[in-house]
Amino acid sequence: MKIGEKIHRIPICSSTNDLAKKLAERGAEQGEVVVCDEQTKGKGTKGRTWYSIQGKGLYFSILLFPSRPDLSLLPLAASLAVREGVFTELNELISLKWPNDLIVWGLKIGGILCESSFSGRELNYSIIGIGLNVRHKKDDFPAELQYSAGSLEMTCREKIDKERLMFVICRYMEKWYRTFLKNEDHKIMKAYQEASCYHIGDKLKVVAKGNIVSGLFKGLDMQGRMILEINGRKEHFLSGEIRILSS
Ligand code: BTN
Repeated sequence: MKIGEKIHRIPICSSTNDLAKKLAERGAEQGEVVVCDEQTKGKGTKGRTWYSIQGKGLYFSILLFPSRPDLSLLPLAASLAVREGVFTELNELISLKWPNDLIVWGLKIGGILCESSFSGRELNYSIIGIGLNVRHKKDDFPAELQYSAGSLEMTCREKIDKERLMFVICRYMEKWYRTFLKNEDHKIMKAYQEASCYHIGDKLKVVAKGNIVSGLFKGLDMQGRMILEINGRKEHFLSGEIRILSS
């Protein structure tokens, strides 16, 4: 089944990722999508909340059964699919902020949360959760996010058709998922670097191993880890091992 060929549309749920997990456990097929209008417990990365107010955002999850065990580039492939979908539909180029933030004009307009289930070392399924702020106005965001978050209607244009946007993103997800399954990692890495907010040589302030340190951005390695030169030494960080404070 192609991605998005079967769509479960529901008005409200706790989290489309959680619902997609339930569907996976009840025998749903690869490519099935869950989309809702409102999430009561929308999840962001690092245990954060994803504010998912009714009708404003596009909140959807895609169920996949990847045949390769190393999933580290799957979130990057999903970011590229969203970028191409938004470009095709809205003619706006999203920048990608490692590991999974989607940025327009310096504002975070969306993010991706990939979650996978394993039995021992065996992968059962992966869920790609995509959250896009579409119709939000500045006041729709909690106070602490009002200067860093934005929406597609704030930055691109008004009256966006969310359903159509999701459909186009699914088409590009099909393309990048196939690239991922064919182990064409260099293609994913090249496209991601081209779209990245960070450029080689940028100075980043980060929290790593409990300390605030400065490092020079040296790119991403083939496992999608960030390479930083800190005190003349190159170190590779997984997304969970580092928090970027500023560039
Ligand atoms: C991030 O923190 O940037 C990732 C946000 C991902 C949010 C989406 S909305 C659809 C799916 N369901 C969730 O609970 N989270 C993801």
